[in-house]
Amino acid sequence: MSATARAQPNIALIKYWGNRNDAMRLPEADSTAMTLDSPSVTVTAEHSEILNVRSFGEDGKEKILTEKDTARFGKHIDLMKNYFLHLNAEEALPCSLSLTIRSGIPSAVGIASSSAVFAAVARAVAGLVEDIIPLTDTQVSILARLGSGSAARSIFSGFAALRAGGGSRIDASFGQQIADVDHWLLHDVIIAPSTAEKKVGSTEGHALAHTSPFFEARLAAIRMRRLKECVEAILRKDFELLQRVSEEDCMDMHKVMETSTPALHYLSEETHRIVSEIKDLRQKEHVPVLYTMDAGPTVHLFCPDEGYLKVLAYARKQEEKGCRVFDARAGEGAKLVRTKKPITV
Ligand code: PMV
Repeated sequence: MSATARAQPNIALIKYWGNRNDAMRLPEADSTAMTLDSPSVTVTAEHSEILNVRSFGEDGKEKILTEKDTARFGKHIDLMKNYFLHLNAEEALPCSLSLTIRSGIPSAVGIASSSAVFAAVARAVAGLVEDIIPLTDTQVSILARLGSGSAARSIFSGFAALRAGGGSRIDASFGQQIADVDHWLLHDVIIAPSTAEKKVGSTEGHALAHTSPFFEARLAAIRMRRLKECVEAILRKDFELLQRVSEEDCMDMHKVMETSTPALHYLSEETHRIVSEIKDLRQKEHVPVLYTMDAGPTVHLFCPDEGYLKVLAYARKQEEKGCRVFDARAGEGAKLVRTKKPITV
């Protein structure tokens, strides 16, 4: 039997950075994000005696996975098995998996490819085990979180949160929808200044968050104010509030990254140039637009319809400077595309 699922990345507005338990990806604080409509990743999962992962890039060519990449899928499967044990459904995932990943996302350019990959893996696995244990979206988001914390949010369409929860149970933290895709049509015009692979991935980065002297203050700000403001901004479609709180949170996350030991510098000169030009555009032409960056130099420009054409025109000009541009908007959560069952006679 096999199951195929498709998922898109999500881009955080209140960023997830730092865990209370790194092995289980239990975050310190809640985060929020918008799920995109593109680019997509498709994953086919099949039961297998041993782990087997094949990955095809946006050009359709097979990618050579590093040992570290393959090991990450192995760890994810072990954690998913623990979760099924916790659900008294050990038989759901008896051995390992054979995974075929077809990605339309250039890896490591800051389009949160791992959020889409692990959301698609989780949805495919849910399809694979549905006759043994049908899972709710919340449970699928827990499966996704075990591969990549942010992936828990890509299970849901539109706007979603990753709830940190409390304690150390495997199901303590989960994804939750804030508003559906039709609620508010925001665009994400993405400018990737460099397609160079990032040096330190977010899995290693999370583990360093606690070494920054600004980390505790960051957690307090999210818990006491930012999260509430962000959810309110989404529910009320208050773009000004969303801009203020998400930019504040993004720059605060980068301050934590840059002051951790060792320091992590993800933003490039190009990032700072684009951010400053966007601030100018906003001020001079009153274009509603906000910027946000994850663990890389890529700039995400969120805007409502009113700002879209001007923001896109700005982005297209950056292509002449060697940047890659992606034109995305709020989209659907991870979906099961098909399941193939063995023919029984
Ligand atoms: O899900 P991870 O482990 O790839 O961490 C995501 C980290 C950020 O992209 C920087 C922030 C976020 O909330 O997506």
